[in-house]
Amino acid sequence: MKNTILTLQKQKEENDKIIMVTAYDYTTAKLMDEMEVNTILVGDSLGMTMLGYEDTLSVTMEDMIHHSAAVARGAKNAFIVTDMPFMSYQTSVYDAVVNAGRLIKEGRGHAVKLEGGSAFAPHIEAIVKASIPVVAHIGLTPQSVNAFGGFKVQGKDLEAAKSLIEDAKAVEAAGACMVVLECVPAKLAKKITQELHIPTIGIGAGPDCDGQVLVYQDMLALYEGFRPKFVKVFADAGKTMRDGIAAYIQETKGGNFPAPEHCFRIEDRVMESLD
Ligand code: KIV
Repeated sequence: MKNTILTLQKQKEENDKIIMVTAYDYTTAKLMDEMEVNTILVGDSLGMTMLGYEDTLSVTMEDMIHHSAAVARGAKNAFIVTDMPFMSYQTSVYDAVVNAGRLIKEGRGHAVKLEGGSAFAPHIEAIVKASIPVVAHIGLTPQSVNAFGGFKVQGKDLEAAKSLIEDAKAVEAAGACMVVLECVPAKLAKKITQELHIPTIGIGAGPDCDGQVLVYQDMLALYEGFRPKFVKVFADAGKTMRDGIAAYIQETKGGNFPAPEHCFRIEDRVMESLD
C-alpha cells in the first residue's frame, strides 16, 4: 500500500504506530520498502553515516538531492521525507521555497523536513503553499548544535517545556503534516502528541508519540561510534558484515574462493589451440 500524508494521518487517528527509518541509498531503501516501513527519512544524518563528517553542518543541497533520488528509485510505497540541509532555508523564506522545490523536483521525495519551531512558521507556510508537504523537527535540532552548546535533551524546565509546546502548535498551524520530536522528555512528548492533530514522530521522545524514527546504522549496530541513550540495537548487522568479510579474506588467501561453481568454462580444444 502506498503511504501518503492521508494514510499517515489516518494511522494517528487509528492509533496505529507510524514506522519511520532513515535510508540514504537505493539498496537500503528497497529493503526498507519491502519491509513495509511507512516512511523513509533521507536525513541529513547522512553527513555522519555516509560521508564521515562529525555533524550535519557541511551537508549540501547536492548531497541531499543525490541521496534522495537514489532512495526514491528504490522505494515504491514508503512516504519519502528529505531533510533540508543547514542554510538551505534559514537564510530566507524565498530560499526555503526554492530549495524545497529542488528537493522534490530533483530528489523525488514526497515531503521536506526542516528544523525549527515558531521562528520557521513563515517558511513552512510558504513551502506548503507551493504544494510541498513539510515535516517539522523540534526539540534537539542537530543543525543548531553550536547554538545549543552540544547535544542535550530539550524542554526539561517549565519555560523550555512551554516553549516546545508553543513550537509544536506553531508548526501545526503553519501547515506541517508531521512533527519530529527529538530528545524530549517522554511525558512532555505525550502531552504534545495528545494536543496536536498531526502525527508526532519520536526519537528519544518516549513511547507515546504517534510513530518512531531511528537511524538505521544505529539500530543495526553498523556504526561503532557514540550511541545515544535512546537507541536500541535490534540486530547486529555490523557483526554479520565483519564475519562475512573475514570469511572472504580467509577463503581467498587459502585458495578456496573462487570455487569451480564461481568460474566460467572454456573448451579444452580452444585452450590447446592457444599453445
Ligand atoms: O537526519 C536525521 O536522520 C534526522 C533524524 C535523527 C530524525 O533528522
